[in-house]
Amino acid sequence: MKTPLSPKSTSGLRGEYAGAGDDFTVEQDWQSYSPEAHDRWRRLYAAQSALAARYAAPQFLEGLAKLDSAGGIPRFDDANRVLQAETRWTLVAVPGFIPDAVFFDHLAHRRFPVTRWLREEHELDYLVEPDVFHDFFGHVPMLLDPRIADFLEMYGRAGEKAMAMGALDMLARIYWYTIEFGLVREEGGLKVFGAGIVSSAGETVYAIEDEAVLRLPFDPERVMRTAYSIDNFQQNYFVLDSLDQLIGSLVGLDFGPIYERWRHEQPLPAGQLQAGETPFKAVRLESLGERTP
Ligand SMILES: [Fe+2]
Repeated sequence: MKTPLSPKSTSGLRGEYAGAGDDFTVEQDWQSYSPEAHDRWRRLYAAQSALAARYAAPQFLEGLAKLDSAGGIPRFDDANRVLQAETRWTLVAVPGFIPDAVFFDHLAHRRFPVTRWLREEHELDYLVEPDVFHDFFGHVPMLLDPRIADFLEMYGRAGEKAMAMGALDMLARIYWYTIEFGLVREEGGLKVFGAGIVSSAGETVYAIEDEAVLRLPFDPERVMRTAYSIDNFQQNYFVLDSLDQLIGSLVGLDFGPIYERWRHEQPLPAGQLQAGETPFKAVRLESLGERTP
């Protein structure tokens, strides 16, 4: 996940920032992970991969299998060999949250920042800041999909303009509602592919099966205008018709006029249906994600 952070204003954040360079990268220092940490990883991995088998998009499952990381906290160098061969991405270790400009620059150069520390035993179900399990298990499998790989580079390159126009919040909502909390129609039903969902046991089930939560068709401008929760399950999700739609709906779209139209307006509250919108019905497993009439 990602929240705003000024350069080097890292007090109060978890993670060891001393020794990080200007690009905020650090060594992964894989040798320093304890046996207990590797065991915790194995339990997290077993629980979430079982849920993912049921609820996640096939692209996520394919990527996860290629990373072969069920046995313990993975070495980023091993994953990088797979990523380089498939989509030319590189993982870089970071202490935790990094400033927006640095984050965008990494993505624009196909480098994905991955937090190096793992959550503690009492945090297995809930975590405020992203850790290596969220960042690696949640994000890296999708980096092996060429569409997500290209989208993230494009997103990184869009950062500068959004910051210059004071519209970072609007751009960040695209990331939030796709890369972190995106749903996609696949294999006749709704599947999760966002890292924030797929790394959370509760939200994986909730996002697909909760009867009350709002699921709306993905529309870039609607997404850019919609507020989100950072400390609770989402009150709405946006559903891609396919991963192709992510790139297809954004390539060639000039964000400038959209930023101009809405950047001084309050965002739409999460979970609120707007006039003329048709949500997807609550989805029972394996059933078709038809919209209500
Ligand atoms: Fe994330």
